[in-house]
Amino acid sequence: MDHAATAPLRPEALEAMLPFLQSGGFGNASSAHRFGQRAQEALEQAREQVAAVLNCRPSEIVFTSGGTESVNAAIKGVAMAQRLSGAGNRIVTSTVEHDAVIHTCQYLEKLGFEIAYLPVDRYGLISPEAVAEAIDANTALVSIMLANNEVGTIEPVEEIAAVIRGKGRSLRKRIPFHTDAVQAPGLLGIDVENMGVDLLSLSAHKFGGPKGVGGLYVKRATPFLAQQSGGGQERQRRAGTENVAGIAGMGVAISLAESERESYVREVSLLRDKLMAGIELAINGVELMGHPEHRLANNVHFAFDKVKGDELVAALDAHDVAASAGSACGTAVWEPSHVLLAMGLSLAQAAGGLRLTLGAESTSDDVDYALSVLPAVIEGLRESTTANAHS
Ligand SMILES: Cc1ncc(COP(=O)(O)O)c(C=O)c1O
Repeated sequence: MDHAATAPLRPEALEAMLPFLQSGGFGNASSAHRFGQRAQEALEQAREQVAAVLNCRPSEIVFTSGGTESVNAAIKGVAMAQRLSGAGNRIVTSTVEHDAVIHTCQYLEKLGFEIAYLPVDRYGLISPEAVAEAIDANTALVSIMLANNEVGTIEPVEEIAAVIRGKGRSLRKRIPFHTDAVQAPGLLGIDVENMGVDLLSLSAHKFGGPKGVGGLYVKRATPFLAQQSGGGQERQRRAGTENVAGIAGMGVAISLAESERESYVREVSLLRDKLMAGIELAINGVELMGHPEHRLANNVHFAFDKVKGDELVAALDAHDVAASAGSACGTAVWEPSHVLLAMGLSLAQAAGGLRLTLGAESTSDDVDYALSVLPAVIEGLRESTTANAHS
């Protein structure tokens, strides 16, 4: 129940990868001979597969080493290019972004960029009006995530894109819009034309591809300065020999995730609803985190009173349930979730956050099992907290 952290590799993706890990298929895509050409063809096929899902041109897809690199390349790449052309040095983002975005913005702050971190409401929603108000003549980029990795809230990216275009028109400048869509494939449509975004970040391991591979959509003519210097790979936008096998796996995984999306969302949302209802029925002192409707179909997140999320995760692990307290991408040291704090929770409330995220192999039996252990685990932790408080 921790699919937002990572999902298993799809067998079809593994099959697509194997030839490029074995003798005969190991060519460098930049080599002119047949081994290189074969690798190059695999890259271009995967680029077409990703572009078909995003409804963009294959040439607008840049392969990277994952979501973190895509986000870094997008935000730093646009920020630096905009600064160089004198288009501004202000970035508008939100307080609930993944650390890949937040820490990239903090890094740019040290280089003199001005960052506006927009607040969210109790559900983690960012208001398009707040985005409009935050944009000024100095604004170089807006970066707002498509779906939150912790609480599953889906942000109104289309409306945000519309207000950015509107503000851009009145300020007579084009303001690029990046969205971190790492949690979206297989759960939400990611048509870049419909969404109106200029850059979009992806990570293969979240949708059945391998770890360490990602994609970045960069709309043609977007100001962009490559963050890695070296060879001319990826049309000068990302230097370095490509991970051919990983990219081939990513192409297959995203195609499958998209073609199965509607039926998967129907099925997984039923399981999610059963899990949510079961928790609310069996356990007192719980509050659903994230938006009740505008949320990812596989995400359940509750804040439990008088429980520490990290202890809860350990206790659940002892019962063979894999869960997450806050985001999984951090270190082993527990810190309160910046997302829950941004949503207005106190430190004590934020400490009790638990995320359960379902996936394609999740079954009704899995949900029943989790519901059979969770109430006793919570009760046990609450009793020990009370006992400790009295001792
Ligand atoms: C919303 C979001 N952005 C970025 C990332 C980073 O992706 P990766 O771990 O592939 O670098 C994650 C990973 O959890 C994520 O959930």
